[in-house]
Amino acid sequence: MAKIVGVVTTSHVPAIGGAIHKGIQHEPYWKPFFDGFPKIREWLAKVKPDVAIVVNNDHGLNFFLDKMPTFAIGAAPEYKNADEGWGIPVLPPFKGNEDLSWHLAESLIGDEFDMVTCQEMVVDHAFTLPIALLYPDMKWPISVVPINVNTVLFPTPSAKRCYALGQAIGRAVEAFPQDLKVVVIGTGGLSHQLEGERAGFINKEFDIRFMDSLTGDPTWATQYTDRELVKHTGTQGIELLNWLTARATMSGKVTELHRNYHIPISNTAAATMLLEHAA
Ligand code: DHB
Ligand code: FE
Repeated sequence: MAKIVGVVTTSHVPAIGGAIHKGIQHEPYWKPFFDGFPKIREWLAKVKPDVAIVVNNDHGLNFFLDKMPTFAIGAAPEYKNADEGWGIPVLPPFKGNEDLSWHLAESLIGDEFDMVTCQEMVVDHAFTLPIALLYPDMKWPISVVPINVNTVLFPTPSAKRCYALGQAIGRAVEAFPQDLKVVVIGTGGLSHQLEGERAGFINKEFDIRFMDSLTGDPTWATQYTDRELVKHTGTQGIELLNWLTARATMSGKVTELHRNYHIPISNTAAATMLLEHAA
C-alpha cells in the first residue's frame, strides 16, 4: 500500500528561480532562505520518496481569471514548465504518475470533492521551484501529481474545506494498492501582499502561530474565513491554504523535523517546514 512519508512546505517566490539560475544562493540576501533546505534534502536522501503530490496554486498558466476551478488535479503523463515571463529558465519536464492521479481523482470525487481533472497541465513557479529547491541537481527522482487550490480569485475555498480535502487526499493515498512512498509538498506563502495600499504587508506573529499549529493543533487555521486570512496574512498570504491542505493529508501525531522562517524574500515572509509522522 502507498504511504505518506512526510510533508514539506515552502515558499515559491519566482525570484528564487533567478537566484538558482545565477548561482547566488550564498549571497547575504539569499543565504538565510536557502539555508532552510539542506536538512530537508538529507531527509529526502534518507527516506527516498517515490512520488510527490504537490499542492499549489496556478498563477494564470492553465486557469486565467475567466475560468477558475476551486480544486483541480493533474492526470497527465508529463508536466511541462511553461515560460512565465519572469526571466527564469524553463526547467525540464516532470514525470506524472497517472495511476495515482486517477486513483486520487476517483477517490476525491467519490468523497464529494468536485475536482477538475486535467490530462494536460503546465506547471509554474509554484510547482517547479519547490521541487528545484528539494532536488537541486535538477534530476527529479520522483513522479508527481499536481493538485491546484484556487488561492487567486475570490471566491476561494475555505480553510475548513481545504483541510477536509487534505484529509481526503490522505485517505486516498493510504488506500492506493501500489507500494509507494509519497511526500506531500505544500507551496506558497507565508504572509505577503504584492499589490495595493498594503503591498509589503507581513504578519510574523500570525505566520509563527500558523507554523506552530501545523504540528499539534492543525485545524487552528480553519477558524478563519478567507477574508480574515487575507486580513491577517495579505492577499497572497492566503497561499497558506496549500500548506494547510498538505498538512491535513497526515493523520495521527506529527513531529516537526525542521523549519526555517526569513523576512524578506521579495515582499514575502519566506518559510519552509518538514513534518513527519511521530514515532
Ligand atoms: C511573488 C510571490 C508569489 O507567491 C508569487 O506567486 C509571485 C510573485 C513575489 O514575491 O514576487
Ligand atoms: Fe504565489
